[in-house]
Amino acid sequence: MAKILLRERLVPNIHILEVYSPDIARKCKPGQFVIIMPDEHGERIPLTIADWDRKKGSVTSVFMVVGTSTHKLSILKAGDEIPVFVGPLGRPSEIKKYGTVLCAGGCFGIAAIYPLARALKKAGNKVITVLDVKANYLLYWEDKLRAESDLLFISARDSFYDCKDYIPRTLKNIMKKESEIHRVHSIGCTYLMSTCSEATKPYGIKTIVSLNPIMVDGTGMCGACRVTVDGKTKFACVDGPDFDGHLVDWEELFSRRKSYFEDEIQSLCYWEKKEFP
Ligand SMILES: Cc1cc2nc3c(=O)[nH]c(=O)nc-3n(C[C@H](O)[C@H](O)[C@H](O)COP(=O)(O)OP(=O)(O)OC[C@H]3O[C@@H](n4cnc5c(N)ncnc54)[C@H](O)[C@@H]3O)c2cc1C
Ligand code: FES
Repeated sequence: MAKILLRERLVPNIHILEVYSPDIARKCKPGQFVIIMPDEHGERIPLTIADWDRKKGSVTSVFMVVGTSTHKLSILKAGDEIPVFVGPLGRPSEIKKYGTVLCAGGCFGIAAIYPLARALKKAGNKVITVLDVKANYLLYWEDKLRAESDLLFISARDSFYDCKDYIPRTLKNIMKKESEIHRVHSIGCTYLMSTCSEATKPYGIKTIVSLNPIMVDGTGMCGACRVTVDGKTKFACVDGPDFDGHLVDWEELFSRRKSYFEDEIQSLCYWEKKEFP
């Protein structure tokens, strides 16, 4: 059992979760994730490690409420215990001095990109961060990311911030202005990562995405997280989750992520004791 130290709503659909797990806190690196089960009847779901405190022995993730498991997580409180908290899983992101690196994050990816921006900055890169939100009230961790970035842009659909645009167009505008960007990292929903990859492709800038296929064991045994990258079969949990976004078969990923759509709705209705539509 792992003890929850903090579970708090950051913005209407996004929560922070801090769990006491000294072994994971000691070893984890940017780009890795944990597998978590909110209760003993639930399923195993992966969440990216967004921060950690090695002294305190704590590991932090940020999750978006989308279905049964994340709803269950969103009502847990400090002091509660969860039956499964496994990690760190996945290969750590490659951190080197590249020059200028653009980090793009949306929804839960705003938090997931944070340790990466911090490590890239520490490695001597110029870090440009772009945060994508639908509207100003959905933005969180701006200060944390600003502290690790040389430049920070907020791409939103309302007029509250500097770039009133969708993230691919914001990226294109930045790429036109900045003389050289050597690498892009993008984390968030599949749509955000695929459109960011599409935007950078004509510029030939290596774009790393953190893929989020359905996962079960997270250790390469079940095959649930199969993705195709550069025409080859990969398992995102052990070969990734980071991959070259220009080589990912996005159509396949979109379609595999939808495999259990009906069951997911049914599960949520059952859990909320509503009738299945
Ligand atoms: C490596 C990795 C890191 C992730 N990091 C984060 C994160 O930091 N924050 C966050 O909010 N989300 C993250 N996700 C996605 C998160 O795991 C899903 O949103 C979550 O599993 C949904 O579960 P649910 O029961 O609430 O929703 P459901 O209604 O069951 O599912 C909603 C959608 O989430 C996806 N999903 C469902 N079950 C899984 C599963 N077992 N594994 C992966 N995707 C699933 C499916 O596409 C599904 O349509 C990550 C996924 C991966 C693979
Ligand atoms: S989650 Fe089972 S092989 Fe990756």
